[in-house]
Amino acid sequence: MRSDIEYSSVAVAEGLGMRDFWLYAWMRKAAVIAAHGIGVSLTIIISVLSRPGTSEWTTSTRLSYFSWHPLCMAFAYCLCLTEGILIFSSDLSLCCCKPRKYKVRLHWLCQILALMVATTGLGFIVASKNLSDSAHLATWHSRLGVCTLAASALQAACGVCVVFPKLLRLSMPPPRLKLYHVTCGLVVYLLATLTIMAAMFSDWYQAIIKGLAWWATFLMPVFPALVVMNQITKSYLPHKKISS
Ligand code: HEM
Repeated sequence: MRSDIEYSSVAVAEGLGMRDFWLYAWMRKAAVIAAHGIGVSLTIIISVLSRPGTSEWTTSTRLSYFSWHPLCMAFAYCLCLTEGILIFSSDLSLCCCKPRKYKVRLHWLCQILALMVATTGLGFIVASKNLSDSAHLATWHSRLGVCTLAASALQAACGVCVVFPKLLRLSMPPPRLKLYHVTCGLVVYLLATLTIMAAMFSDWYQAIIKGLAWWATFLMPVFPALVVMNQITKSYLPHKKISS
C-alpha cells in the first residue's frame, strides 16, 4: 500500500514527466539541505554576535546574563527544534536509513534539549532585566517570546500524551492525539520564527548589524520555516487521497 507522500509523488511524476520529476525531487532535497544549513548558520551567527560572557549591552548590571539569551534561544529553536523536525523529512534525512523508532527517540532528545535550553535562555533574560531594572514584556519580541514558550510547553505535553496514551488513561484515539501534537508543532515553529525575526528589530541587534547583513539575517529564518511547514502539512495533516 502506498503512503500519502508516495501518492502525491506519483501524481507529480505523472503530471511532470519522468525527467522533470527527478528535477523536482532534487529541488526538494536541495531545499531540505538549505534548511539544515540555514538553521546551523543562524545559530552560529547569533552566537558569535551575542558574544557570550560579555556585558556591553547591560552596562548597568556589569553582568553578562543578557549575552547568553540569544545564544540559548538560537540553539534551542534554530538548531534543536529544526533538526528535531527535519529528522522525519521524507525528502532527505540525516538518519534516513534508521528505523522510525530511532528517529522518534532522536526527536524526543532534540525537543527535550530545546525546551531545557530555551528555559535557561528565558532565565538569563529575566535575570538580566531584573538586575538592570528594565520593564518586562515591553516589546513585541518579548510578548511573542512568551507565546512561543507557552506553545512549546503545550506541545511537549501533547508529545507525552502521544507516547504514553495508556499510562495517562486517555480516551482520545492515538491518531487524533498525533494530529494535535503535529499541529501544535507547526504553531510552535511559526511562532518561534516570528519571535526570532522580531528580535532583529531590537536596539541591541540593530546596533551590531546593519544594512544588507541585517536583511540577510532577518530573512534567513523564513526558509527553514517554509520547508518545515511543507514537510508537516504534506506528511501528517489530512488531505485528499488520489485514487490509483
Ligand atoms: C524563539 C526564540 C526566543 C524566545 C522565545 C525569546 C523570548 C524572549 C522573552 C520572553 C523576552 C522578554 C523577557 C522579559 O521581558 O522579561 C526576550 C527579550 C529579548 N530577547 Fe529574546 N527570545 C528568543 C530569541 C531571541 C534572539 C534570537 C535574540 C537575538 C537575536 C533575542 C534578543 C532579545 C533581546 C534583545 C531582548 C530584550 C529586549 C526585549 O525585551 O525585546 N531573543 N526574549
